[in-house]
Amino acid sequence: MTHTITLIPGDGIGPEVTRAVVQVLEAAGLQATWESFEAGADAVAAHGTTLPEPLLQSIRKTKTALKGPITTPIGAGFTSVNVGLRKALDLYANLRPVWNLPNVKSRYDGVDLVIVRENTEDLYAGLEHTVVPGVVESLKIITDAASTRIARFAFEHARKHGRKRVTSVHKANIMKLSDGLFIECARRVAKEYPEIQYDERIVDAACMQLVMFPEKFDVLLLPNLYGDIVSDLCAGLVGGLGVVPAANLGLDGVGVFEAVHGSAPDIAGKNIANPLALLLSGVLMLHHLEESAMADRVMAGVMAVLAGSVRTRDLGGTASTSEFADAICRAMEAAGR
Ligand code: NAI
Repeated sequence: MTHTITLIPGDGIGPEVTRAVVQVLEAAGLQATWESFEAGADAVAAHGTTLPEPLLQSIRKTKTALKGPITTPIGAGFTSVNVGLRKALDLYANLRPVWNLPNVKSRYDGVDLVIVRENTEDLYAGLEHTVVPGVVESLKIITDAASTRIARFAFEHARKHGRKRVTSVHKANIMKLSDGLFIECARRVAKEYPEIQYDERIVDAACMQLVMFPEKFDVLLLPNLYGDIVSDLCAGLVGGLGVVPAANLGLDGVGVFEAVHGSAPDIAGKNIANPLALLLSGVLMLHHLEESAMADRVMAGVMAVLAGSVRTRDLGGTASTSEFADAICRAMEAAGR
């Protein structure tokens, strides 16, 4: 079957890693018509906006997008296209599986956890203003509706994938109303899933415990900001940002698949970025498209390559982005013979 998929190459290392991932997915047998769109600063010249309406229309139609990272200017300039896309399409759940890949060096063994990050509100609502010169206010929005649906998503994910425990991460000792509402909703939803344990951690203690005993965590349920920060921390547990995938999921089966990492301007254009994080996001996409055999083929190719010595620099190797992708294609081809 031929799938129609929206492709957002993004900027920075985005075009390099998306090119590599499309190559591997197609080598695994994916037949796709790609509808490709620019976004962010690159889209402004052609469309006068960072998030063109045709891109959004394409994702509403295809229900599936593979997305490279997009740069957001720091401190000033346009608002995040990544946040804007999630809000525009109501991609309320950000799912980030974090596990030790075989033969990828890290400080820990046995990490196998899933981050479920609320994706539409919290301090990412972007509601900021200057009260008087020298005093600014950023509004943290937490609603019952969004907190309840992300909690339900986390428990449903745990039930479907045989996970045992959901841990809410919060700071409700200080933000009694906002984070208080978040955990109140999670507690309410937890009662509907008696077979799944539920517990809570204050975010600072959670960070300490994650770097001491990461293997003790299962499903982490977090509001947007803590989810963003804790995701990078967890990536550091298993080898870095080059290996952790993500899926932004919404209603009606809409999914935008992207890596946790950003546009990495420090290594952009050098063909040295690790495409594995986006490739593993591509594997999540294949499952979403119900192409599980293809997903298994890609994973087998990845495992075969990681069993050898070919790897990108972030993982201690010397392979370029394209050499790593070529090696996975060759491994899949050899397995198919
Ligand atoms: P970053 O994730 O782009 O980079 C952090 C560090 O990790 C850098 O040293 C980079 O070289 C390295 N790194 C990241 N991905 C890698 C890969 N695939 N292979 C090898 N090394 C990799 O985070 P940073 O520097 O904070 O953000 C850069 C830009 O990306 C910012 O404009 C930010 O807003 C944007 N960003 C976009 C995201 C998205 O599109 N979803 C997510 C996170 C950040």
